[in-house]
Amino acid sequence: MKILVTGGAGYIGGTFAYEALKNNHKVLALDNFSNSKPEQIDNLKNIFEKNFEFFEIDLSIQSEQLSNCIKEFKPDVIVHFAGLKAVGESQKHPIKYWNNNVVSSINLIEAMAHNEVKKLIFSSSATVYGDSDQQPIPETAEIKSMSVYGSTKIAVERMFSEAARVGVIDVVSLRYFNPVGAHKEKIIYENPFDLPNNLMPRIIRVALGIDEELQILGDDYETRDGSGERDYIHILDLIAGHFSAIEFILKNNGESIFNLGTGVSTSVYELIKTFESTNSIKIPYRICNRRPGDVAKCYADPKLALNELNWQAEYDLSEMCKDAWLGVKDNESG
Ligand SMILES: NC(=O)c1ccc[n+]([C@@H]2O[C@H](COP(=O)([O-])OP(=O)(O)OC[C@H]3O[C@@H](n4cnc5c(N)ncnc54)[C@H](O)[C@@H]3O)[C@@H](O)[C@H]2O)c1
Repeated sequence: MKILVTGGAGYIGGTFAYEALKNNHKVLALDNFSNSKPEQIDNLKNIFEKNFEFFEIDLSIQSEQLSNCIKEFKPDVIVHFAGLKAVGESQKHPIKYWNNNVVSSINLIEAMAHNEVKKLIFSSSATVYGDSDQQPIPETAEIKSMSVYGSTKIAVERMFSEAARVGVIDVVSLRYFNPVGAHKEKIIYENPFDLPNNLMPRIIRVALGIDEELQILGDDYETRDGSGERDYIHILDLIAGHFSAIEFILKNNGESIFNLGTGVSTSVYELIKTFESTNSIKIPYRICNRRPGDVAKCYADPKLALNELNWQAEYDLSEMCKDAWLGVKDNESG
């Protein structure tokens, strides 16, 4: 199969591209390196000389280049990972986020329509549920934004939904919960070196000795132990969900939305403890104030994906902690 991957130099897009290439698919990746490094692409090029192509493109700038890529490559499906994802940064630079995440998606859909490519998988996020009072959260839960980042995901989902309604595209939006870890061969990993927002890479920074202690952002939430609870999912389970979604969209029309989560809720303290015991590394921490925009609890009801995609997560928290650490510990230079 021919798969066009936007954001192919990033953590999830790069891991997806690696797994797709390993399974003998042809991959064309696009990225502007706004949050990634060309080395990720060089790694893929070195391993998969034959089936892998890459173009440096900023999707938020309308250009012939994108349309030409689609025209020449003729993908069976496009997987759209490209986007900015830092919630805090999005609050400070809203227009940058709207421009990057929404305009890029408009440009993509126009280029698809122009070249009659219809099948699309979109990286959405559990952030679209905001501070949901339904836990675990089903896809039917109310959509509400708690940040500019969340608003852009909601806007893009809706735009894709409207385009699917009039037959321009067929789309699956995948609402990721909290992807962590690295794939087993450690080629692509989540970069912990440029001040990450997510908890696992911040734990990794402490494990690597970059930070002295982990800041726990609030331990007065109404949760089991006062710290925030999330649904962590191994990156390999997340990627497997994409291949199931591709099979699904190749047989189905219109728009579908699925949660990709484990259905298991884990607190910050539980994640630290599991990381410590799995990797035999102590993670000192300090309690700090809550971070604006963070919710107490967010975990998936994953039944729809099981029923419709025949997909469910398999890796447990300990495996996630093991692979997250193995993925970066030999790449300490950043
Ligand atoms: N990692 C998470 O926890 C998480 C959770 C939910 C949803 N998501 C979504 O999944 C997608 C991938 O996330 P990730 O963790 O791999 O992030 P990432 O930052 O590692 O990868 C995103 C890639 O997109 C590229 N990019 C951004 N804007 C671009 C543009 N205008 N043109 C071309 N390339 C552009 C970046 O350079 C980067 O390589 C994002 O859309 C993100 O919002 C991620």
